[in-house]
Amino acid sequence: MIILAHHYQADDVFRFADFSGDSLKLSQQAADQKDAEFIIFCGVYFMAEVARMLCEPTQKVILPDISAGCSLADYANYQQVSECWAVLSDKLAGKKIVPITYINSSAEIKAFCGKNDGAICTSGNADRVLRWAFETGDVVLFLPDQHLGRNSSYRMGIGLEQMLVYNPELREGGLTETIADDVKMILWNGCCDIHMQFTVDDIRRVRSEYPEAKIIVHPECKFDVVKLSDLAGSTEFIIKHIAQSRESVWAVGTERDMVSRLAKQYEGEKTIFNLSRSEPYCPMMKQSSPAKLLWVLDNIADGNVVNEVFVDEQISIDSKAALQRMLELRR
Ligand code: 13P
Repeated sequence: MIILAHHYQADDVFRFADFSGDSLKLSQQAADQKDAEFIIFCGVYFMAEVARMLCEPTQKVILPDISAGCSLADYANYQQVSECWAVLSDKLAGKKIVPITYINSSAEIKAFCGKNDGAICTSGNADRVLRWAFETGDVVLFLPDQHLGRNSSYRMGIGLEQMLVYNPELREGGLTETIADDVKMILWNGCCDIHMQFTVDDIRRVRSEYPEAKIIVHPECKFDVVKLSDLAGSTEFIIKHIAQSRESVWAVGTERDMVSRLAKQYEGEKTIFNLSRSEPYCPMMKQSSPAKLLWVLDNIADGNVVNEVFVDEQISIDSKAALQRMLELRR
């Protein structure tokens, strides 16, 4: 049995983890741990679904709280994405559209990308996956986090004027005009409610109160916040970068528990604090409480499996096509 924990888990659960990581590292761990009969995933539902897809049929993936969802993943459902695909296929006739979904999405959306020659990305490899997408196609449909899509493609040299936002609440996603020939990115209108809470004002305040501080944020933050920061990257990138850097004062724009754990870890050596005074936190990640973790473990000890995560077989096959494309790109 292994216990995996995402960096956003609170300390009282995180301390029991055999492996911790960002979404990319944890999905690789799940794929590599062929000997573990039980994979207890202290994270949110889409992460456990990915683990389920990548591990062996004999292994069991368990989420301590089966209702731990992700509000970002909920921004796009299969019906909406199919409608969007029809709109884009019509408006971009003659162009090859490559669907890329952030791993923070439902299994159905991942399967959609797999079926349509697309791929999955995480915040740790979005640049690499987008580079691949532009080698194979003309336009990328990026689901469901517009900010990760915008920040990553801008870093590759794609201008803001070459990006459009598709809003599923509007007729034709709001793309009623002809789409200009140089448009490269269609960004789904989704966002992470936690990372939306970091603002340009936070950056200005930190720059004036701590002129020596470096600002590092997650790429789910808004474009202006990322642009005004010193660095942006996945949770794993943030942790590694702070560990390796000689800089000793850091303002970090991501989830509360990860930042406070870093602050404790480097106490007396580096000053680390949250970029936002309100210290945004993800309630879904906290649903894997110690009591629920103990409950699933107790049940295993009694020979019962509770809160097992399943994925429909065909959805799993199609999603895995998109997942494998991503995992192959790490080589
Ligand atoms: P990471 O892949 O950077 O861990 O991000 C996961 C996530 O859900 C951030 O909100």
